[in-house]
Amino acid sequence: MSPHPASFGAKLVPFIAKPFSSLPLHNPHPIWHIEGKAKFQVGKAFYRPAAQVVRDLGILAAAIDQSDTGSLRVLDAMAGCGVRSLRYWLESGGNWVWTNEGNPEISAILHQNLGDAIEAGECLVTHQNANRIFFDCHNRQDYYEFVDVDSFGSPESYLDTPLWATKFGGLIYFTSTDGRTVGGRSPGKSLSVYGAYARSHPAIQEQGLRLMIGGVQQQAARQGWGIQPVFSLFTGETYRVMLRLVATRLLTAQNYGFLGYCHHCGNFQTVSWGQLGRVVCFYDQKPLVLSGPMWLGALHDYHQLGRLKSLAQEWGWLKRVQLLSLMEAEADLPPYFYPLAEIGRRGGMDIPMRSRLIQALQQGGYRATPTHINPQAIKTDADLNTCIATAKKGEG
Ligand SMILES: C[S@@+](CC[C@H](N)C(=O)[O-])C[C@H]1O[C@@H](n2cnc3c(N)ncnc32)[C@H](O)[C@@H]1O
Ligand SMILES: [Zn+2]
Repeated sequence: MSPHPASFGAKLVPFIAKPFSSLPLHNPHPIWHIEGKAKFQVGKAFYRPAAQVVRDLGILAAAIDQSDTGSLRVLDAMAGCGVRSLRYWLESGGNWVWTNEGNPEISAILHQNLGDAIEAGECLVTHQNANRIFFDCHNRQDYYEFVDVDSFGSPESYLDTPLWATKFGGLIYFTSTDGRTVGGRSPGKSLSVYGAYARSHPAIQEQGLRLMIGGVQQQAARQGWGIQPVFSLFTGETYRVMLRLVATRLLTAQNYGFLGYCHHCGNFQTVSWGQLGRVVCFYDQKPLVLSGPMWLGALHDYHQLGRLKSLAQEWGWLKRVQLLSLMEAEADLPPYFYPLAEIGRRGGMDIPMRSRLIQALQQGGYRATPTHINPQAIKTDADLNTCIATAKKGEG
C-alpha cells in the first residue's frame, strides 16, 4: 500500500533557505552539468538528461507567459536537483521561484545550484510534501503563475491539488510516468486514478495524455473552473500536459466522452454520453470496446504552439521547432492514430511508407499528418478502410 500523502509530509522537515555557504558540499571532484543556460551539479538527486525536451518546452511556455504579463512566479513543486527552477529563473525571466523538493538530503545540492537566485532574493528552497505547499498557497491566497509538478509514477495524488496553488490564467505542467494504467492492462487502477476505464487499442499513448487532461478538467469543473491544454507531450516513456487554469467551467458532454475501438475492423470512433447503451461500430455494427471518459478536444492550443515555435526559432532551438511543427499539424485531428503496421497487417500488405500514404490521403481530400506520439503512425480524419485502400493503391 502506498503511504498516505500526509505521512510522507510528516517525515519531511520544513526547510527555509539558508545562505548556501552554510551548507558545504563535501565532493572534492564535482561533476558539472550544463543544460540551456543552467550550470549545475546533480549529486544524489534525480536527473535525466534525456528529459531535456520536456524542460525545454516548459521553459518556452513560461517565457511566453512572462512576456505577456511581465511577471513569472514559479512553484517548482518536485524539483530534484533544481535544474528547472534554475532554468525558469535564467531563461524564462522568472522573477520569483519557489523550489520545493521532498527529499531534504539533497538540500545542499539545491542550495548550491540555486545560490545566485537565492542571493538575489528571488528563490526560496523548501522540503515539504508538495500537496502541503499547494494548500498552504491556497490558504495564504498566494497563487502562482506557473506550477511544475514533476512527479513519479501515476499522478492520482496531484491531479487536482496544484489547481489550488495556481492563479487563474496561470499554467500547470503535469507529469505521469505510468503507462501501464492508461494502456488497458489495469482498467481498475485507471478508474481510481482518472475516474475512467482505460481499454487496450493501438493508440493507447494518446489515450494516456487524454485521460490526464480529462481527469484534471473534471476536477476543475467541480470547482466551476476549467483548463485549456496548451500542449501535450508523449516522450516514449512519460506523459506531460501543460494546462492553463481559467475561472470558467469548460467541461462539456462533447469535449469529455468516450473513445470506441472495434477489434473486428480496427476503426475508432468517438462516443458521446447520449449514445451509451446503444453504440456499435459504424462500419460493421460489431460491439465497440469503450475507453473513458477522457478529453476529446484539441490536444494542443494551435495558436500558443505557434508562439512557442517562434521563440524556439529565435533561440536557435531547431529540434524543438521541428517537434512543435509536428504538434501544430496534429493539434485538432481526431483523438487517436493509426499505426502503419496496423494498416499493413489489416490490409494484408507490407507496412506502407508514411510520407507516401500521408500525401496520397491529402490528395484524396483528407487531413493527414505524422504524429509526435508515434513516429510509425499517422493521424488522419480518414477511416481505417480508406487508409488501407489508399495504401494499396500506392503499392500497385
Ligand atoms: C522526477 S524527480 C524531479 C526531477 C526534476 N524536476 C528534473 O526535471 O530533473 C521527482 C522529485 O520529486 C520528489 N518528490 C517525490 N514525491 C514528492 C512529494 N510528494 N513532494 C515533494 N517532492 C516529492 C522526489 O524526491 C524527486 O526528487
Ligand atoms: Zn468495426
